[in-house]
Amino acid sequence: MTIRHFLREDDLTATEFRRILARASELKLARQRGEQITPLANKTLAMIFEKSSTRTRVSFEAGMTQLGGHAIYLSSDNSQLGRGEPMEDTAKVLSEMVDAVMIRTYSHAGLERFAAASSIPVINGLTDYLHPCQMLADMQTWFDQRGDIQGKTVCWVGDGNNMCNSYINLAMLLDFELRVACPAGYEPDETLLKAAGSRVTVLQDIHDACRDADLIVTDVWASMGMEEEKKKRENDFSGYCVDDSVMAVAHSDAMFMHCLPAHRGEEVSASVIDGPQSVVWEEAGNRLHAQKALVEFLLTS
Ligand code: CP
Ligand code: NVA
Repeated sequence: MTIRHFLREDDLTATEFRRILARASELKLARQRGEQITPLANKTLAMIFEKSSTRTRVSFEAGMTQLGGHAIYLSSDNSQLGRGEPMEDTAKVLSEMVDAVMIRTYSHAGLERFAAASSIPVINGLTDYLHPCQMLADMQTWFDQRGDIQGKTVCWVGDGNNMCNSYINLAMLLDFELRVACPAGYEPDETLLKAAGSRVTVLQDIHDACRDADLIVTDVWASMGMEEEKKKRENDFSGYCVDDSVMAVAHSDAMFMHCLPAHRGEEVSASVIDGPQSVVWEEAGNRLHAQKALVEFLLTS
């Protein structure tokens, strides 16, 4: 069997991405009916966290249990990675013992080095560059409620960070229009922008960017690892809050998403995130189902 990694959205074809979303919805319904589906009996997922997590850790760990397998939590503090054991050596050792690895780390290049040394599937649980597992959950949420996203208009508000880069990849993969509203100096990855061409537009005016949007998405102003920039960013992003005035210029049935954790009163107002157009709890819950479908795909297909 050829090893498949999921380091970026386009490690899957568009057909595979959509197939995983459909399977995620099936697994969600099966769980609601109380059915047990256990294709991963005796399989183990190692999870390496070099950054904090609530959703990613719990969804992968619970997901593996529900699929009949097991997950092991490792962090820089409790493993030899924190004491300088090279990524490549860790990848080779884990390949001897478990069936797949999920990593949340800083450097995307480091993740790629890990994957190159691994003989088992590696899943990106977030790097400074991309957050592809969140894309599966966001798209499951959209597809379940609205059908395919092809041809729709999505607006990303705020930092041109890992989530924004992932949305650019997703716009290319699933064929939708993306508008990015960000302050000057906080644009997303230049190479991705170039590759996306006219499919992605970067604007500074949040209302112009969100006009007639079908989906509005935002994220924190200071991502993990940027704590020292927090004060400066609060200043630079002060005009980039998704509030009622922003939702008002989008389509009346526009959805609001946020990968969480959120800061009410900063990137989003409480009235929006806790309001009727927000789907953030379903979105968070879909991390479980979408990743179950992903791990099943990587380990059994
Ligand atoms: N959205 C997300 O990845 O959440 P965690 O940081 O809690 O895993
Ligand atoms: N952009 C955020 C996402 C957290 C899930 C970060 O990297 O911290």
